[in-house]
Amino acid sequence: MKKTLKDIKVKDKKVLVRVDYNVPLDANLNITNDKRIVATIPTIEYLLKENAAIILISHFGRPKGRFVPEMSLKPVSVRLGELLDKPIKFVGGNCIGEESKKAAASLKQGEILLLENLRFHPEEEGKNAAGEKDKAAMDVFAKEIASMGEVFVQDAFGTVHREHASTAAVVKYVKDAAAGFLLEKELKFLGEALENPQKPFLAILGGAKVSDKINVIENLLNKADSIIIGGAMAYTFLKSQGVSIGESLVEDDKLDLASELVKKAKERKINILFPVDHIVTNKIDFTSKQVPQDAKIEETVDEAIADGFMAADIGSKSIEEFAEDIKSAKTILWNGPLGIFEIDEFSKGTVSIAKLVAQATADGAISVVGGGDSVAAVKKAGVDKMISHISTGGGASLEFLEGKELPGIAALPDKK
Ligand code: 3PG
Repeated sequence: MKKTLKDIKVKDKKVLVRVDYNVPLDANLNITNDKRIVATIPTIEYLLKENAAIILISHFGRPKGRFVPEMSLKPVSVRLGELLDKPIKFVGGNCIGEESKKAAASLKQGEILLLENLRFHPEEEGKNAAGEKDKAAMDVFAKEIASMGEVFVQDAFGTVHREHASTAAVVKYVKDAAAGFLLEKELKFLGEALENPQKPFLAILGGAKVSDKINVIENLLNKADSIIIGGAMAYTFLKSQGVSIGESLVEDDKLDLASELVKKAKERKINILFPVDHIVTNKIDFTSKQVPQDAKIEETVDEAIADGFMAADIGSKSIEEFAEDIKSAKTILWNGPLGIFEIDEFSKGTVSIAKLVAQATADGAISVVGGGDSVAAVKKAGVDKMISHISTGGGASLEFLEGKELPGIAALPDKK
């Protein structure tokens, strides 16, 4: 067990908090989803109550070690100020420049400072100015960051799978460190689903590629009672079982692997479910995410898909079949949509599954949803408030579900 916020002394201290404010912006630099900012409020409010001076640090986008004005954290400082109804100090340009250091040194208790995008410095990602891997350069940068605060709180769950200066190295240079409330909550829900799930434990996995989810499936084969596989990756599995899939997306180089995973599931008596019917079309414009007007959209009678058609969603019999497992599950873990839900004509499957998961939660199951697309799907279904826990991590939640040790968590000290 790692130390958490209440295990360390923060009263009246200068506290450095790593947050993940990598939020989506539109072309006018307006934040289109502030969930990651909102998710850090409990930690910030607790620190304010403890009369701490708070220095927030984050990355934003992938500026590759150079200053990119559009990737400044300035818009985030404004949104955070609105949410807290409090002025947020912000120094643009350089998070370890003279001005930032002065602002950190003069920061008073009860005040909040947000430093500029850490990734404007290649050292944050373990590289030197020449772009070469350089652990020593990363350590120097981590030390400079650490010197601005007294203790360190890790609350950037979305970034703990990265071994970076502000996620791992910084911990070596502070007096004490702990997980913030958001990280603690993520570990509780994702960790308990994997380590101590209430049974039956159902995993619903969707998304485009088998290759993205192999390790998650392998890990869940040791833990879940049932696994539903939908989304484009289901068609690689179905083809591996000899089902005709028409022109559906498929990873032909993963067919053997898909059959191996099905074999393992059967050997372990895990109920592995695939769509038994589909909504198919003969035309989709993947770039504009639109169905051309002359496209045909049909529901298949069974699992087979005719030549010239590709799957875009699960069909109504699949929804009915999956509903049985969802209703009886006590723990449900969901990662990845079951169809091209961004297109209304193909959203019924994913939206129906979201509603079923929400209903199961209302009936007493624990539900954990992770991964950007499935989070958008529960929002589209209007049931996001009914899910037990929606993870703020994309890559981080996937790597956690793979059972990997994540550097930003491993670096934190253990509870005594
Ligand atoms: C994310 O959005 O998943 C995190 O902020 C990590 O970003 P990265 O993939 O650029 O490291």
